[in-house]
Amino acid sequence: MSSMELESSLGPFFRAAEGLVADLGPGPQAFAGIGDLLHRLAADATLIDDSRLAALHGSRAGATILGHGPNGSTLMLGRFPAEAPTPVHNHNSWGVIYVIRGRDRHVLWTREDDGSQPGRARLHAIESRDLEAGQVAWFPAVPGDIHSQQGLGEAAWELVYFGRDPNAAPRLYFDPDRGLVEERAAI
Ligand SMILES: [Fe+2]
Repeated sequence: MSSMELESSLGPFFRAAEGLVADLGPGPQAFAGIGDLLHRLAADATLIDDSRLAALHGSRAGATILGHGPNGSTLMLGRFPAEAPTPVHNHNSWGVIYVIRGRDRHVLWTREDDGSQPGRARLHAIESRDLEAGQVAWFPAVPGDIHSQQGLGEAAWELVYFGRDPNAAPRLYFDPDRGLVEERAAI
C-alpha cells in the first residue's frame, strides 16, 4: 500500500478519533474510545504490514508517521527496543498508546522545577506500567506529556495517536539523573 493509499484508508479512523475528542474533550473517556479504534486498526493487516514494520527494524528506536487527521491529529507507528529505554522526552501533545506486539514499560514523569533555569530540570517518575500487546495507555497534554518507554525482553511495537503533530515543534529531552534538559528537533 502506498503512503497516499494508507493516508486515505485511515480517513474513517481520523474522523472517528477527532469526533470523540470534539464531543468528549481530550480526557479519559475519549482516550478509551480512541484505544478501541486503535485496536480495530491494529487488526487490519493491510495497515500494519510487515514491510512497514521492517522499515523500522534498522533503528534502535524508530517511528514513522502513518498519517494526519483533518484537524492535525497524528498517527505514528513506533518500535521501542529492549536494550535501553528511550530518553525521557515530551511531545507537545497528549497521546494514546496501543501495543501491537511485544511488551512495553511505559513511565510517566513529572517536572518539579519552574523551568526558570536554562538547561536545568528536576523530574521524578510518577507511574510505571508494563503494557501487554492489546493494552492501551495514554499520557496527558502539556505539561503532563513527559514519558519514556522500553521494550521488555524484545522490541515493543505500538500505535501512538497524538492530538497534535509531535514533530511540528522541537521537543524537550531530559536527563533526570543529571538534572538537565535540552530542546531539540524530534528524533
Ligand atoms: Fe514518546
